[in-house]
Order: sequence, then C-alpha cells, then structure tokens
Amino acid sequence: MPYKKFLIVAAPLLLLVIMLPASAFSKETASCLACHSSMKGRLKSAAGALIELNVDADRFQQSVHGGLSCTDCHMRFADNPHATPGAAVPPAVVALAQKLSAKHAVDPVAAAACTGCHEETFTKVLASVHGKNIIEKKQTDGAFCIDCHGSPHYIVKVKDPRSLVSREQQVETCGRCHGDKKLIEKYQLQENVMESFKESFHGRKLHLGHTKVPVCASCHNAHDITTKNDPASPVFGKNKLQTCGKCHKGANEKFIPAITHQKPGPIPHYTEKALILLLLSTFAFIIIHVLLEAFSDIRDAIFRKGREE
Ligand code: HEC
Ligand code: HEC
Ligand code: HEC
Ligand code: HEC
Ligand code: HEC
Ligand code: HEC
Ligand code: HEC
Repeated sequence: MPYKKFLIVAAPLLLLVIMLPASAFSKETASCLACHSSMKGRLKSAAGALIELNVDADRFQQSVHGGLSCTDCHMRFADNPHATPGAAVPPAVVALAQKLSAKHAVDPVAAAACTGCHEETFTKVLASVHGKNIIEKKQTDGAFCIDCHGSPHYIVKVKDPRSLVSREQQVETCGRCHGDKKLIEKYQLQENVMESFKESFHGRKLHLGHTKVPVCASCHNAHDITTKNDPASPVFGKNKLQTCGKCHKGANEKFIPAITHQKPGPIPHYTEKALILLLLSTFAFIIIHVLLEAFSDIRDAIFRKGREE
C-alpha cells in the first residue's frame, strides 16, 4: 500500500478510536463521520457533480434520521471508506436511482433510498407534476424531496419551525420556485400566486401570526400536487367546495371565488376607483365652496367699505 493511501485510511481510523467512547453512532457511521465531519469545502466528482464534503455530526444526530446509519441511504457505500460501485443495492432502488440520476448526480441511490421507508409518499411524488417534471421531462430545476425538505442530513419534523415546510417557512419554500421569474417563464406557470397569496385575507393573517389559516399545501396537498385541470386536484372545479369546506363549514359556490389567486375582478376594481373619485370630488367641492365663500366675504367687505365712505 503506497504511503499516502495508507495515511488516508489510517488517519480517520485512528481518529475513530479516539472518538468512539463518546460517540452515539454505530461504528460504521462513526467511521464515515470521522472523515466527513472534519472535511470542509466542495470537490468536483469524476462525473462533474459538485460534492459538499462536510456533514455536521451534531445536526445529523438531532435530525429525524439521527438514528440511521449513513449506509441506510448511501447503500453503494457499504464497505469502508467507499465501496466499489455496485454494492448490493435492491433492484427497485437501482431502477429508481437511474430515473433520478440527472437530478441527483452525486449519489442517486441515496435519493432513491427514501422509498425504502417512505414508499407511499415516494410513489405520490413520482406521479405528481413535480415528479413528472424530473422523470418524464428530465429536468433538474423542479422539486423533489430535498428541494422542499432541505438537506437530507438535517431533516426535522414538519411541525418544527426550523423545517422548510413548516407553517413558518412553507410559503417561502414554495415561493423560491413559484416566485422565480425564470421558472415561471420556462414552465408557463401562473405568475401571481405568491403576491396574491400574500395579499389575500389568509396571507395577511398568516403574516400576523394566525395559526389556523391555510398555507400552500393546505389547499394543494404536499406530495400529490397536480394542475388545477386534473380532476384529482383539490383545486379542480367543484373539489374546491371540499377543500375550503375543511375549514369553512358550508362553503358554497358563491364563497369559493373569493380566493383563487386571481387579481380582483373588474367590478371590485372599478368600485374602488369610483370610491376614490367620489372622495376626491367631495374634497374638491368643499375646498371650492370655502374659497368662493371667502371670496364673497372679502368682496362684500370691500364693497361695503367703499359705500360707507
Ligand atoms: C477516508 C476518508 C473518508 C471516509 C472514511 C468516508 N469518506 Fe466519503 N468521501 C471522502 C472523500 C475524500 C470524498 C470526495 C470524493 C471522492 O473521493 O469520492 C468523499 C465523497 C463522498 C460522497 C459523495 C459522492 C461520491 O461518490 O464521491 C458520499 C455520498 C460519501 N463520501 C459518503 C460516505 C459514507 C456513507 C461513508 C461511510 C460508509 C464515507 N463517505 C466514508 C472521504 C471519506
Ligand atoms: C436519509 C438518507 C441519508 C442519510 C441517513 C445520509 N445521507 Fe448523505 N445524502 C443523502 C442524499 C439524498 C444526498 C444527495 C445526493 C444527490 O443529490 O445526488 C446525500 C449527499 C451526501 C454527500 C454529498 C453532499 C452533497 O450535497 O454534495 C455526502 C458527503 C454525504 N451525503 C455523506 C453522508 C454521511 C457521512 C452520512 C452519515 C453521517 C449520510 N450522508 C447520511 C441522503 C442521506
Ligand atoms: C413540493 C414540496 C415537497 C416535496 C417535493 C416533498 N415533500 Fe414531503 N412534505 C411537504 C410538505 C409541505 C409537508 C407537510 C405536509 C403537511 O403539513 O400536511 C410534507 C410532509 C412530509 C412528511 C411527513 C408527513 C407526511 O405527510 O407523510 C414526510 C415523511 C415527507 N414529507 C417525506 C417526503 C419524501 C420522502 C419526499 C420525496 C419522495 C417528499 N416528502 C417530497 C412538501 C414536499
Ligand atoms: C431507513 C429508513 C428511512 C430512510 C431511508 C429515510 N427515512 Fe425519513 N424517516 C424515517 C423515520 C423512522 C422517520 C420518523 C422519525 C420520527 O418519527 O421521529 C422519518 C422521518 C422523516 C421526515 C419527517 C416526518 C415528520 O413526521 O415530520 C421526513 C420529511 C423524512 N423522513 C424524509 C426523508 C427523505 C427525504 C428521505 C430520503 C433522502 C428519507 N426520509 C429516508 C426513516 C427513514
Ligand atoms: C424546486 C422548485 C419548486 C418548488 C420548491 C416547488 N415547486 Fe411547484 N412546480 C415547480 C415546477 C418547475 C413546476 C412545473 C412542472 C412542469 O410543468 O413540468 C411546478 C408545478 C406546480 C403546480 C402545478 C402548476 C401548473 O401550472 O400545472 C403546483 C400547483 C405547484 N407546483 C405547487 C407547489 C407547492 C404548493 C409547493 C410548495 C409546497 C411547490 N410547488 C414547490 C417547481 C417547484
Ligand atoms: C385557500 C387555498 C389556497 C392556498 C392557501 C393557496 N392556493 Fe394556490 N390555488 C388555489 C386555487 C383554488 C387555485 C385554482 C385557481 C383557479 O381555479 O383558477 C390555485 C392555483 C394555483 C396554481 C396554478 C395551478 C395551475 O394548475 O395552473 C399554483 C402554481 C398555485 N396555486 C400555487 C400556490 C402556492 C405556491 C401557494 C402558497 C404561496 C398557494 N398556491 C396557496 C388555492 C390556494
Ligand atoms: C386550513 C384551513 C382553511 C382553509 C383550507 C381555507 N380557509 Fe379561508 N380562512 C381560514 C381562517 C382560519 C380564516 C380567518 C378567520 C378569521 O380570523 O376570522 C379564513 C378566512 C377566510 C376569508 C375571510 C373571512 C371570511 O370568513 O369571510 C375568506 C373569504 C376565505 N377564508 C376564503 C377561503 C376560500 C375561498 C378557501 C378555499 C379556496 C379557503 N378559505 C380555505 C382557514 C381556512
């Protein structure tokens, strides 16, 4: 074994021996972390993907997956330090990994591995507009698990305010793409959804800290999102009755149009303009009236003065 290679393997193992007594991780995970929690920066892989080398051991441990082994997701890396590609990975995961390989170029097997424990969710996302964008249209700028949930190593419960999909952060998370001019243009997405949500009654109340108003996924769902023209969508036609009805008992067809991201229709628009015009003309009338009265007082005063002399 060449001297340098020996060092690369031996140094972390030594570190591992030092760290082990204090470590809550499995032996294997501790060995991965011996390198990956001490390395910093980015490196270009052979395939050209940019690899972020550092994994923060404390944050990983505190995440929902802190009890997992690195190789529960990085299945190819079964031997230490790095396996030869093709370590025993279930065929179903290999097939999924192939479909995800453009989007997740660093380790597609790890991205596909979520299905092992979250199969139902995974299947829903694959069939959603977001999944089809990746699998069928072969694009890389759409949304898959970690675009919404954040780094795979630091995922926290969705109710935790630190979660990117929590009530506190979800609007910003969807808005990263749905408020992005380039993506809106590229995919012909509806333009005003972010502004119209923020200006809506719901959006304003959310801003004030109301805890019951809906955020994006309350009306669109989180994983099986489709276009509004799909009868399965919660915002398709009459499905809206049920969607609004979750919180507004007895929501009817007159109630629903109140919130659809549309700009205010012509009637409220012109009503508002007319009211402003009315207000301005009332003020103008009062001012002219006061001026005329003042003028007539002055004129009277001068006129009378002249006659009295
Ligand atoms: C001896 C230090 C060392 C150990 C131990 C180590 N890694 Fe790495 N790892 C690296 C380096 C260096 C890279 C940068 C690219 C490369 O060489 O593949 C890397 C890259 C990676 C990547 C990016 C993808 C790729 O193909 O390069 C993943 C994922 C990864 N390591 C996971 C793990 C896991 C999981 C373990 C434990 C089973 C582990 N590593 C153990 C040093 C190490
Ligand atoms: C819950 C599954 C999961 C676990 C557990 C996990 N990873 Fe990852 N990891 C991923 C996914 C998914 C990616 C992104 C792969 C991609 O986009 O190609 C990734 C990426 C990486 C990368 C490359 C980082 C980057 O963004 O370029 C390294 C290095 C890495 N993991 C190391 C580790 C180490 C070390 C552990 C154990 C402490 C670990 N991972 C545990 C899922 C996981
Ligand atoms: C478009 C954004 C988005 C994508 C993509 C996404 N999620 Fe989610 N996920 C959410 C939101 C939002 C919630 C919270 C839902 C709620 O509060 O009802 C959530 C909740 C969850 C939950 C917890 C509760 C539940 O509903 O099951 C799990 C587990 C989960 N996601 C896993 C995944 C996995 C695995 C993937 C990839 C296959 C994924 N998510 C892709 C947005 C997303
Ligand atoms: C080996 C099994 C396993 C794998 C693989 C796995 N998870 Fe998990 N995941 C879990 C478990 C177990 C929990 C629940 C922890 C708890 O309830 O405290 C969880 C929780 C979550 C949650 C939070 C759910 C909530 O209730 O708030 C999300 C989000 C999530 N996982 C996403 C992912 C993503 C994304 C991947 C792939 C990168 C992945 N998981 C891979 C086992 C796994
Ligand atoms: C990483 C970027 C990204 C994130 C994050 C994201 N989306 Fe999307 N979304 C897209 C893209 C791209 C499309 C269009 C896909 C296509 O047409 O191929 C889309 C499509 C949609 C559509 C269907 C629109 C249409 O015109 O057919 C809805 C609804 C939607 N997303 C809602 C959400 C919600 C809700 C969230 C947050 C929970 C979210 N998205 C997060 C990128 C994203
Ligand atoms: C109160 C429920 C509600 C909330 C909250 C909500 N939406 Fe919508 N959304 C709708 C309805 C209803 C429609 C369909 C409008 C129509 O029929 O013209 C829609 C349409 C859309 C569309 C266009 C879908 C298509 O197929 O063309 C996108 C994209 C979208 N919403 C994204 C979002 C995002 C992002 C958020 C969070 C910032 C959000 N929505 C919050 C109810 C909601
Ligand atoms: C997750 C629950 C939830 C969903 C889903 C929801 N709303 Fe609301 N909505 C609220 C809450 C909470 C308020 C604020 C009530 C208050 O403070 O008086 C509100 C207020 C409103 C208001 C203003 C006050 C009022 O009661 O007239 C309108 C209009 C409204 N929602 C329309 C809709 C429409 C239309 C939909 C479906 C597209 C919808 N909402 C879906 C929870 C929801």
